[in-house]
Amino acid sequence: MHTGHTGNSGNVELARAQQERWDSAYARRPELHGVEPSAAVRRAVELFGAAGIVDVLELGAGHGRDALFLARHGFSVHATDFSETALDQLRHAAQREGLDDRVTAALHDVRDPLPPADATVNAVFANLLLNMAFSPSELRSLVAEIHRVLCPGGVFVYAVWSADDPQAEHWQQLEDGLAGHDGFVGRFFDKELVGALGEDWSLDEVTPYQEEQRLMLRVTMTKAAPES
Ligand SMILES: C[S@@+](CC[C@H](N)C(=O)[O-])C[C@H]1O[C@@H](n2cnc3c(N)ncnc32)[C@H](O)[C@@H]1O
Repeated sequence: MHTGHTGNSGNVELARAQQERWDSAYARRPELHGVEPSAAVRRAVELFGAAGIVDVLELGAGHGRDALFLARHGFSVHATDFSETALDQLRHAAQREGLDDRVTAALHDVRDPLPPADATVNAVFANLLLNMAFSPSELRSLVAEIHRVLCPGGVFVYAVWSADDPQAEHWQQLEDGLAGHDGFVGRFFDKELVGALGEDWSLDEVTPYQEEQRLMLRVTMTKAAPES
């Protein structure tokens, strides 16, 4: 499995620096994002449950507050991230809670193709991943990869920073629509970008909400079943 490099046209140095930054942030502060599940995963549990889904692929899972929440609700979760430190924390937490039969964790940089074969996954979840330091083409490739691995009718739920967040104006504007603050680089999403990324999908829900003083957007989209 490749880590720390960009599979396509992105900025390799930026990607490597961000990976090191995340890894050392998790090493310095275990449970960096807290133990409470995100607002997005609470909604995902309802949606996935209603759709009869049992397996979830989580991307950018970090130390796994949401993976553990999904597992507690009976889902089997395959969690990936490009920080081995965070994934170790998730593995240990899953063991402590007796959820390790329902949680697997694997190192993966989402700039590389996703490991699953075509149309083999029923649900993908990603909280605060798509707004990381991806170039526009990396972002498009990632969403195309998610589309590729999902079965027809499969669901993708993601949450990102909203461009309407007043904090956005305090971030330094960088190239390619990225923004930087305190060494972290990311992207604020507007509805136009959400729409562009959802072009090949059925865009079911785009919901603004507030979480930890941030304005966020939660998006649910479905891979259309082929017309008969
Ligand atoms: C803001 S954190 C969110 C973590 C988790 N989803 C949560 O809500 O607790 C973003 C996560 O994305 C991961 N990440 C950033 N870029 C990545 C990449 N290219 N491939 C895989 N993971 C990445 C980071 O390591 C970090 O764990």
